[in-house]
Amino acid sequence: MSAYQVLITGANRGLGLEFAKQYAADGWNVLACCRKIESAHELKLLAAEHDNLQILALDVGDFKRIDALALQLKNQPIDVLINNAGVYPDSTFGDTNYDEWAEAFKVNAMASLKMAEAFVQHVAKSQLKKIATLSSKMGSIDDNSSGESYIYRSSKTAVNMVMKSLSIDLKPYGISFVTLHPGWVQTDMGGPNGLINTQTSVTGLRSVIENLSLENTGQFIAFDGKCIAW
Ligand SMILES: NC(=O)c1ccc[n+]([C@@H]2O[C@H](COP(=O)([O-])OP(=O)(O)OC[C@H]3O[C@@H](n4cnc5c(N)ncnc54)[C@H](OP(=O)(O)O)[C@@H]3O)[C@@H](O)[C@H]2O)c1
Repeated sequence: MSAYQVLITGANRGLGLEFAKQYAADGWNVLACCRKIESAHELKLLAAEHDNLQILALDVGDFKRIDALALQLKNQPIDVLINNAGVYPDSTFGDTNYDEWAEAFKVNAMASLKMAEAFVQHVAKSQLKKIATLSSKMGSIDDNSSGESYIYRSSKTAVNMVMKSLSIDLKPYGISFVTLHPGWVQTDMGGPNGLINTQTSVTGLRSVIENLSLENTGQFIAFDGKCIAW
């Protein structure tokens, strides 16, 4: 059996970088995507240490680039595709920046569908056939007791629905889907007060992905394996 291959978006920092580190250390072929290779210093150091890690340019808001990358990687199996890239613009009632909302919607929600459309054949021809998206408990309508964060919350709620539909529509391809909540993590987005570090979060998320199958496809699961209400 050849080594598994994982594609990760937003792999230059935070959770994406930690995914790249852990999968590379485990001997997977890692396609580490980031939008600015020139400033992806930590990722470049990681690539220097691992022959099995390749850095690829990808801004997930650029759908033509997504298509071009899919073509560049044509005929390559992708066992696990991780939609990790995300943004969290501030948004408070009365001060909404609607352009930022449109951009966040593109990156956080639409890009996951676009990635599935562009890479469905790569994933379908792999051994594991899995697609995971980093969402957030903040996208759970059931869990929303504190309001605000209109832009971030709504974009994550939208991607939750996208993933659910994909899990139904792409079952015939043998592809399973999971929507992930990483916990509150110490990253640039999560800030220093996050409850867990990236190692703990990603170790848990990788275990969730490992346990993903067509039997449990289409769920919303946290890093600790617990199901989250939509
Ligand atoms: N940290 C948390 O507590 C937490 C909680 C719940 C969910 N999440 C989710 O987990 C994921 C990773 O979060 P994080 O904490 O690691 O965030 P982060 O430290 O802010 O990193 C975000 C990553 O996304 C990339 N990115 C943003 N826009 C992009 C675009 N248009 N194209 C390609 N890459 C783009 C960034 O690249 P640049 O360096 O180029 O900006 C960066 O690599 C996100 O989807 C986030 O919503 C995080």
